[in-house]
Amino acid sequence: MRVLVTGGAGFIGSHLVERLLADGHEVRALDDLSSGRQARLLESLGVELVLGDAADPEAARRAADGCDAVCHLAAVASVEASIERPLSTLRANLVGTVTVLEAAVAAGAERLVYASSAAVYGRNQDLPLREDAPSMPLSPYAADKLAGEHYLAHYHRSGMLRGHAFRFFNVYGPRQDPKSPYSGVISVFLDRAAAGKQLTVHGDGGQTRDFVYVADVVDVLARAVAGEGDDDGDLPVTNVGRGVSVSVAELAQAVGEAVGTRPAIEFGPARPGDVRHSLADVTLLTRRFGSAPATDLPTGLRETVATLAG
Ligand code: NAD
Ligand code: UD1
Repeated sequence: MRVLVTGGAGFIGSHLVERLLADGHEVRALDDLSSGRQARLLESLGVELVLGDAADPEAARRAADGCDAVCHLAAVASVEASIERPLSTLRANLVGTVTVLEAAVAAGAERLVYASSAAVYGRNQDLPLREDAPSMPLSPYAADKLAGEHYLAHYHRSGMLRGHAFRFFNVYGPRQDPKSPYSGVISVFLDRAAAGKQLTVHGDGGQTRDFVYVADVVDVLARAVAGEGDDDGDLPVTNVGRGVSVSVAELAQAVGEAVGTRPAIEFGPARPGDVRHSLADVTLLTRRFGSAPATDLPTGLRETVATLAG
């Protein structure tokens, strides 16, 4: 199959590109390199990169041309950025999604796999979060991701393509960029702990997340591209988490152990729009894909640290 990965120069996208190549697919990427840092890796893998904005119909059309399936990961992947710049993130995250959907249909692609987010549950604290739990978005980012699911459901229901939306919980692993002000907590903590710097916990550290290792995430996505996990009815929506809750304070300790240091910890103000608790119900994931993600936090941290050292 020929597969388009939007956001292919990003953290999760670059791992997905590698996995799809290993599965024998031909892969193209669409990325504007606004946060993606893996253009050189794509080049070394021989993957064509269409450099452009997912919300630009011409760039999306060029990227989707001749593709059988699309994995749509391009987005401004930051809750905070969406609060600071709701209009530009709306364009990347929602207009981009609809533009890519239109391009996928025009190209005759059969399937579109969409990176949604656990952020759609937002204020809903009925844990563990099941896919049919009410969505209560707390940020423009979450609202855009949820609206993207609804657009995808429309295309799916109308028979224009087969869709599958995945609500990623907190994904971590090698190549996650620690240097942006919006970087994921594990990449920031690992980077700082390895440099002997102190870790800043936003709030009291009692907030919890369901951290899932990137290789486990791309395994699910690659299998969905190949048609696994399909339902005959409405758009399938599936959580991608481990179903294991870890507080940010516990995470700080686990990071110290993985790096072999005892980092100093300072507590700063809580972040606006921050969800307090987030934990996946993985029943549907397990039913559709056979098992829940296997990599536990110490193993995933160790593997990530090994790539920092290498
Ligand atoms: P990332 O920032 O590394 O990757 C996003 C990629 O999209 C980048 O390469 C960026 O340059 C590109 N991009 C952004 N706007 C674009 C645009 N308008 N046109 C073309 N390319 C654009 O982030 P990531 O963590 O790899 O996230 C991938 C996807 O997964 C995103 O959709 C994100 O919202 C979603 N997600 C991530 C997490 C997580 O924990 N990392 C959790 C839930 C959902
Ligand atoms: C993350 C994703 C988002 C996704 C959501 C799904 C990133 C950058 N964002 O958002 O795309 O949709 O999960 O659940 O991966 N924290 C600290 N100190 C730091 C950094 C963060 O205490 O230095 C705290 C935050 O306040 C938050 C927690 O760690 O409570 C996780 O933050 P972060 O990694 O940014 O992810 P989310 O906001 O959960």
